[in-house]
Amino acid sequence: MKRILSGIQPTGNLHLGNYLGALKRFVQLQDEADCYFCVVDLHALTVPRDPADLRDKTMEVATLYLAAGLDPEKVTMFIQSHVRAHTEASWMLECVARIGELNRMTQFKEKGKGSDSVSVGLYTYPVLMASDILLYQADAVPVGEDQKQHLELSRDLAQRFNREYGEVLTVPQPLIGEVGARIMGLDNPEKKMSKSAGSPANFIALLDDPDTIVKKIKRAVTDSENVIRYAPEEKPGISNLLVIYSLLSGESIPSLEQRYQGTGYGQFKRDLAEVVVDHLVPIQKRYRELRQSGDVERVLKAGAEQASRVAEETLTKMRDAMGLVPRMV
Ligand code: TYM
Repeated sequence: MKRILSGIQPTGNLHLGNYLGALKRFVQLQDEADCYFCVVDLHALTVPRDPADLRDKTMEVATLYLAAGLDPEKVTMFIQSHVRAHTEASWMLECVARIGELNRMTQFKEKGKGSDSVSVGLYTYPVLMASDILLYQADAVPVGEDQKQHLELSRDLAQRFNREYGEVLTVPQPLIGEVGARIMGLDNPEKKMSKSAGSPANFIALLDDPDTIVKKIKRAVTDSENVIRYAPEEKPGISNLLVIYSLLSGESIPSLEQRYQGTGYGQFKRDLAEVVVDHLVPIQKRYRELRQSGDVERVLKAGAEQASRVAEETLTKMRDAMGLVPRMV
């Protein structure tokens, strides 16, 4: 059985992009693979955070994992910082990584924008991500397109480690969906939907109430042609809405194009809003029940124990391979 690992940061609001590019796919993969899914709270420390908000968001993301359909009987779900091996392996991999390759990471360049008040953690962030993946010997990593470059670095680090210290680490494959790997912002379909977007009109949060969802979709930027046609270059707004519609309803894009021939954007948007609301309301209901139940804490406790066992095994191999003397017992 293939081993899968992925993670989501507890920053901002989890939105439809995170859901369609990652979480919904995690739920599909749980029946085919040996899955490890974490909430990457250490990654969220790379930018200044209010501690109470970080705690709350970490539990929110963990709860949304379950509410969206992850089954703790099938997957191992945990909080990254509960498994100490991640930070230790990250240091070891920092000693394998090269400054030049981190300098090329576009996400750091965008977020850092050359400012010298940026944290060192933001710079070494992709190495911590590599340690998340490599500690579990993951064969594949389901992510959205924006993580592709980070995945390439993880592969390079695994290969370099194996070359320099012997075959220890599995080289992971990225699993990037053909459709939905880059959901665009509703207010600007030229840019991806983002947790850190300036305006809430950019995204539909998984916990947005139905009225807000309807309003946001109604206001989503389209074009003036009033023809429902998939053409990402020419018509990015309506194409993005078609992708969302198709992924949530299961109806193919050509079938939607045909069904909405001669219909204007108004009707299409009303129907799409209904599809989104019908999909998210049951998740929100489960979310509220789970948050009260204490079940999430129990799942995270068992998850941290299982994840630590696997991670420690790889960490011991890495330590031995690099020449660190084992602790005296
Ligand atoms: P994060 O928290 O920014 O995003 C979580 C997941 O959502 C995907 N995603 C999108 N997919 C489609 N359209 C969008 N607009 C969109 N926005 C985000 C992301 O690609 C991601 O899959 N560095 C990672 C977290 C991480 C990780 C890992 C992932 C840390 N360690 C190990 C995989 C394996 C991040 O910041 O994702």
